[in-house]
Amino acid sequence: MKVEELLITEAPQNVNLLNGKLGGENVRESIKKLRDLRGIFEDENTRDLMDEDTVVYKVRVHASVESGVEGGLLFGTTYLMPGKVGNEYFLTQGHFHKIGNRAEYYWGIEGDGVLVLMNRNRVCKTEKVQKGSLHYIPANTAHRVVNTGNTILSFGACWPSDAGYDYEEIKQNGFSVRVVEIDGAPAVVSML
Ligand code: PA5
Ligand code: MN
Repeated sequence: MKVEELLITEAPQNVNLLNGKLGGENVRESIKKLRDLRGIFEDENTRDLMDEDTVVYKVRVHASVESGVEGGLLFGTTYLMPGKVGNEYFLTQGHFHKIGNRAEYYWGIEGDGVLVLMNRNRVCKTEKVQKGSLHYIPANTAHRVVNTGNTILSFGACWPSDAGYDYEEIKQNGFSVRVVEIDGAPAVVSML
């Protein structure tokens, strides 16, 4: 048997398992502020009166391949701030994938929230997001996360690099449920 001397290198990327922080190569960050979320909350008048520079969420992605490339995977962490617009909790914009039949995994890292899933018939389902929760988002299912706690909600995501984002459908029609605070506790209300 011939023993080859292999060079064992450090992994080029890393993820902090406690807070989801991504390190190493090709980490990209995007930030969504209240100004970017016009028309997304139910109470647009209240959003309009708030400081437009308020950060609602940040997304950091390990972009080992470019978005749009077929056959790759992207891996990211979203940090969703605590807060409300009127009685509606801060949320991610939410989207279907541009290529509708692409699925995704989300998992909870820290904080407390709700994942809202909606199929093409506008039927919604909600799942609690918390440390260690794992969420399979099937194809043709719009997805949005809502922070129902008082601390940052962070969650991980892994999705096909060609999935893309269809934000338009949600901008036009929204989700058929919203997550709001009623008597100090989160409640899911129907918009139908
Ligand atoms: O790929 C995903 O679904 C996530 O990384 C989201 O893009 C992220 O949580 C931000 O949400 P949205 O893209 O709906 O603004
Ligand atoms: Mn997605």
